Amino acid sequence: MVSATSKYKGSGDKIFWNEGNAFKTYLFDAFSIIIPPCEHFIIDAVESSVKSTSLFSSDKKNTESLISDEARHSQVHKAYNRKLAASGYAIEKIEKRINNAMDKLIALQPEEKLIIAAAIEYLTMIISLIVLKSARWVTAEKVYQANVWRWHCKEEIDHQGVTENLLKKSNVTYFRRVSIFTSVTMYLLSDLFINICSLYHCDRKNQKISRYRFFRSFVFFVVNNGLDLLTLTYQWAKYFRSDSGKNNRNNRNNKSNNNILPA
Ligand SMILES: [Fe+2]
Ligand SMILES: [Fe+2]
Repeated sequence: MVSATSKYKGSGDKIFWNEGNAFKTYLFDAFSIIIPPCEHFIIDAVESSVKSTSLFSSDKKNTESLISDEARHSQVHKAYNRKLAASGYAIEKIEKRINNAMDKLIALQPEEKLIIAAAIEYLTMIISLIVLKSARWVTAEKVYQANVWRWHCKEEIDHQGVTENLLKKSNVTYFRRVSIFTSVTMYLLSDLFINICSLYHCDRKNQKISRYRFFRSFVFFVVNNGLDLLTLTYQWAKYFRSDSGKNNRNNRNNKSNNNILPA
């Protein structure tokens, strides 16, 4: 009889949809768990900001498009996360922790929420650009999860700069903006780390992965994506330039035809 451990030891099996790489699979699955509460927060932040700001009609159109994009992303990732739960991961426990944290953020003042939303949007935009540049992050195979990520990343690039544009209409100081941006980055990284650990421990408990396989997948990821990680760090640091967002605004006009939901 084949044990659960030996059954999943092979490198070409499909338990890890992202080219059989456990770490890369956990990374994007961990991201997916964060997406619905994040999108809910961004929609709330933008709606609160729009109520207190006078906007040109083009800005109104951009914010409406962003809200409908994010609402669809949230729905699609909820379905993605239900698939994770059906695979045996303790998603509800993770979601509860993230939702509790998001509830506290939603209670903040509209201006503060907009600064956080702009920071999240900038991070998702630079990550999306890197992810779509090559198949080093998301497999080129037409698997469900990869289709979701490619679609979501394209839409993030399309609506980049919308929240930043709203932020320019308020009198937020440079220091406040970049300190919140740094905090948001730290928060997201720690959340990702916790989620990856939870997914890994779940698989360990179910004997689906060995420590060696996880370690090997992490090393492979770092070696293969090292240059991209440096580029990502450089793009992240660009937010500290006082004119960050200047080149990112009003890009809805360049929107390509990406509104096709993943299969
Ligand atoms: Fe999104
Ligand atoms: Fe977005």
